Amino acid sequence: MTRPLIAANWKMNGDLALAEAVIAGLAEGGGGGVDVLLCPPFVYLREVARMVRQAKAAGLAVGAQNLDYHAHGAFTGEVSAAMIADAGCEYVIVGHSERRALFGESDADVARKAQAARGAGLAAVVCVGETFAEREAGRTEAVVEAQLAPLAGFFAEGAGSGDGCDFAVAYEPVWAIGSGQSAAPGDARAVHEFIRRRVAAHNPAAVGRARVIYGGSVKPGNAAALFAEPGIDGALVGGASLAARDFLSIIRSGYAD
Ligand code: PGA
Repeated sequence: MTRPLIAANWKMNGDLALAEAVIAGLAEGGGGGVDVLLCPPFVYLREVARMVRQAKAAGLAVGAQNLDYHAHGAFTGEVSAAMIADAGCEYVIVGHSERRALFGESDADVARKAQAARGAGLAAVVCVGETFAEREAGRTEAVVEAQLAPLAGFFAEGAGSGDGCDFAVAYEPVWAIGSGQSAAPGDARAVHEFIRRRVAAHNPAAVGRARVIYGGSVKPGNAAALFAEPGIDGALVGGASLAARDFLSIIRSGYAD
């Protein structure tokens, strides 16, 4: 079975005390058999990475929430993949729906960012998902397919020869993000299966290297039911990752051994 990934997307929230509380909670137990990822704002990355290294907690890693796909240059306010790796990160979230909706990221930008991430040795967590209107119109698969299409080269290239998962796709229905209303586990599973088929269509080998995780109002109360679905390889957690106790409870539910 794929080792699950449970990621905290703090967005523009959180601080070092939150990182400390999560790391301390993990040290007390729980999280075994699960990869745990903390994605704080840029300014905290290096320090959180240092705290994570010091904690020596297996499977605990740090990631950024965004990157610029250029290597360097006159792009005021932007941060490159190499800089993120240099700060001690192993992952980066790419194409979150807030980046797409509020900052105008296109599907093509998302694909460039995923490539740039891989180029710097970072595992991209590529977010896709439909809006409520798109779901109501029965267009969920078409929307997700269109979001994945520019990533064909990224999937086809595959990864190096290591045996780890080198990227993740996060299925995050836009209507479920921050709404308190997660997707029904069976509905999420169906989209996860669709995502796997699309990735496999580009490169059958890539699908074995990808985790498909779910995001959108994952909470202590619904995490176990989501994780019980085959094909849901973990979660990208926003709001509930801002309370250490809730995030730790999500990590423990379903996967704890
Ligand atoms: P949420 O956010 O858990 O607060 O719904 C998830 C996300 O945006 O990644």
